[in-house]
Amino acid sequence: MSSVNSLRAHLLEELSDLLSAEQQLTDALPKMAKAATTQTLRKALGKHLKETREHATRLQDAMKLLGEVPGRKTCEAMAGLLEEGDAMMNSTPEGALRDAVMITAAQKVEHYEIASYGTVRTYALVLGERKVAKLLAKTLDEEKAADKKLTGIAEKSVNKAAAREWHEQRAEDGMLAKSAAWVGGKVGAAVRDVPQLVGRAAATLGVGDSDGRARGGAKKTRAARAARSADAAASETPGEREQPSKKKPAARKTTRAAKR
Ligand SMILES: [Fe+2]
Repeated sequence: MSSVNSLRAHLLEELSDLLSAEQQLTDALPKMAKAATTQTLRKALGKHLKETREHATRLQDAMKLLGEVPGRKTCEAMAGLLEEGDAMMNSTPEGALRDAVMITAAQKVEHYEIASYGTVRTYALVLGERKVAKLLAKTLDEEKAADKKLTGIAEKSVNKAAAREWHEQRAEDGMLAKSAAWVGGKVGAAVRDVPQLVGRAAATLGVGDSDGRARGGAKKTRAARAARSADAAASETPGEREQPSKKKPAARKTTRAAKR
């Protein structure tokens, strides 16, 4: 930022800042107009795009009247407002709600411009720059009119439509919640009946009792144990069971040693 050592220097600084703001808005408005759902809002944004181009031209004219050239400056405030508005717009589905969100963003922009043009017009007046003040006053009036137009669109249609969307969505969510609760209740009841049904089936097949306790598990365990024993017995050879006969030669050796 260049140094500001006089009200005139401050006026020039602010005019350069506004020129950057108008140029950024010129780039942003077509996208906003395209994203608008209602025809009224799209038209209003389209009209303000034309005015915004004129505002930039007027600022350059004001600079000429002052015998200056606009400084190379980026209006960070406008960049922030537009970035925030763009993020809000992109995260909102098409419909009245998105129009409401866009009007919020556009009115923040308008109020920033109204504050800025109001101050530069006053500085130009007190500095005796009447022609410059007149140019800036014209833009100020158009910014105020644009803001008023947006308020009118919001109050006449968009806000009510967005509220209606919310009521409809809430009613739909309520119906979905009721349906989910009904399905959940039915599934829960079916799951609770499962042990009883299994018990009855087991009793019918003779593998359980009528209280729902199936005995198949215990029976299976006993059967498996019996099968393992049978397998083990079948794998044994007859010789493996005749262990005592292997000790006889050792006893004969002892007898021969004793004779000697
Ligand atoms: Fe403007």
